[in-house]
Amino acid sequence: MEIRQITASETWEIRQQVMWPDQPLSYVILPDDDHGMHFGLFLNARLISVASIFITENQAQLRKFATKREYQQKGYGTALLQYIIDQITKKGTEKIWCNARKMKSNFYENFGFTYTDKEFQKGKIPYVIMEKRL
Ligand SMILES: CC(C)(COP(=O)(O)OP(=O)(O)OC[C@H]1O[C@@H](n2cnc3c(N)ncnc32)[C@H](O)[C@@H]1OP(=O)(O)O)[C@@H](O)C(=O)NCCC(=O)NCCS
Repeated sequence: MEIRQITASETWEIRQQVMWPDQPLSYVILPDDDHGMHFGLFLNARLISVASIFITENQAQLRKFATKREYQQKGYGTALLQYIIDQITKKGTEKIWCNARKMKSNFYENFGFTYTDKEFQKGKIPYVIMEKRL
């Protein structure tokens, strides 16, 4: 297993397949992608989990975190998110936050993220903003 920084375009296929399979690839390309840091977890040299980080004023937004379906629930997402948190903590980032799909909020809670009262819906998917002080 290897975790390292990757380019935005390397994340797009997994983002689309896992998060928005009914949408075209263009749907998961963020206008801000050029300004983000992108991380990937490789298993036997194949990319299986991705996540992106956008830092503004010492606060990091985690976006488009996805593990290929057949590799979910095996600890890879945890390893990737822990690596990212370690990296941004070293850089002096004070807070990480994300728009969490409510069905995944347990996962973030287990990382020590707490719920805010900010909630919204995108398509049919309900979200809550969650955050963690670093
Ligand atoms: C969210 C996501 C990226 C997590 O990636 P993952 O690789 O499945 O993460 P992990 O395997 O480390 O953890 C997932 C769960 O499996 C559990 N787990 C970890 N290792 C495990 C193992 N060896 N055996 C069984 N379960 C395990 C974790 O405790 C965790 O449980 P929790 O959700 O109740 O906290 C993944 O579920 C995903 O891609 N979801 C679809 C896209 C999405 O919703 N992204 C997040 C948007 S907010």
